[in-house]
Amino acid sequence: MTGTFHILGIESSCDDTAAAVLRVDRSKAQILSNVVYGQSELHARFGGVVPEIAARAHAEKIDLCIEDALSQSGLALEDLDGIAVTAGPGLIGGVLAGVMCAKGLSAATGLPLIGVNHLAGHALTPRLTDDVTYPYLLLLVSGGHCQILIVRGDEDFTRLGGTIDDSPGEAFDKTAKLLGMSQPGGPAVEAEARNGDQRAIALPRPLLDRPGCDMSFSGLKTAVLRQRDAAVARDGGLKRSVRADLCGAFQLAVRDILVEKTRRALDIYLAERPKTPTLAVAGGVAANGMLRAGLEKLARQQGMAFVAPPLALCTDNAAMIAYAGAQRLIAGAQDGLDLAARPRWPLDQKAPAMLGAGKRGAKA
Ligand code: KG4
Ligand code: ZN
Repeated sequence: MTGTFHILGIESSCDDTAAAVLRVDRSKAQILSNVVYGQSELHARFGGVVPEIAARAHAEKIDLCIEDALSQSGLALEDLDGIAVTAGPGLIGGVLAGVMCAKGLSAATGLPLIGVNHLAGHALTPRLTDDVTYPYLLLLVSGGHCQILIVRGDEDFTRLGGTIDDSPGEAFDKTAKLLGMSQPGGPAVEAEARNGDQRAIALPRPLLDRPGCDMSFSGLKTAVLRQRDAAVARDGGLKRSVRADLCGAFQLAVRDILVEKTRRALDIYLAERPKTPTLAVAGGVAANGMLRAGLEKLARQQGMAFVAPPLALCTDNAAMIAYAGAQRLIAGAQDGLDLAARPRWPLDQKAPAMLGAGKRGAKA
């Protein structure tokens, strides 16, 4: 594909049904529409994403979401030049809903079909928003993912580390649940932390004493549980002030772990002497003010650029899928109607598989 073209993106790998239309000219892209139908209220009372409910909701809404995205872009299906769809990794029922819909559209219109790795969508977002040059270091932290990657090209990634159990977003969500707070937990914990003393309660920093860039968050959540139970036994209930202290202590521990592991990854990245050294962050947890500030400071200390895309492009969306699909289309790649939905699809095929599978699906 050469010259200016238009591409539809479809995303349904977790709990957001999303569609977007982009006008693309090589690595430059303009977002014409970016529609997200969230499912939080469907899952709220279960305290986490229920895969079967998510899959059904995607199947029910995906065509409406695409219609919305097309109408907001001012384009019709026949004005498009390609259809990009998340083909994994993620909750398989949801991924299937998107892939089947995209196949139907491709078969009916004859438009090229492009299967996209959801993680590549996140990883390439700093190029969509800020035209960052390769290679850059990316911390990808969301409800489903946690990886530190050197992004070398559209399909060339080196994973330097990742979580061996929960993702940071999952840890925020579980912590909020333990403390009787609303979901999603990240924003709730961040807001409550402002009312407390983050140094009042000491929480561990799992794996920080070990070399390397791998992380662990599940022990941290267990430590919150123990502190909560001790406080309840001592005070006869969970005092609001203790809850705020615990939120602050938890957020501080997550910040410390992520910033320190990113610092180590930066050493490896900078040793390669990149021409325009850049640290980028993506994923829903990138919304966290304390984390952003910690990463920004780290980048400043190293004299390098820091890029944090706007929140709507950090959390799950289809603009990033359309963008990643456009790069494959430019490279001459295209998939057939035999495109498979993949629950697991690591970006760095050479890196050893991570342990564990979170409640939002297998870790990639
Ligand atoms: O990227 P995202 O929208 O979806 C997934 O791919 O999972 O990320 C959602 C996650 C949730 O776990 C949510 O609690 C977390 O991002 N999150 C935050 C904040 N805002 C959202 N975590 C910490 N601080 C925040 N302000
Ligand atoms: Zn995601």
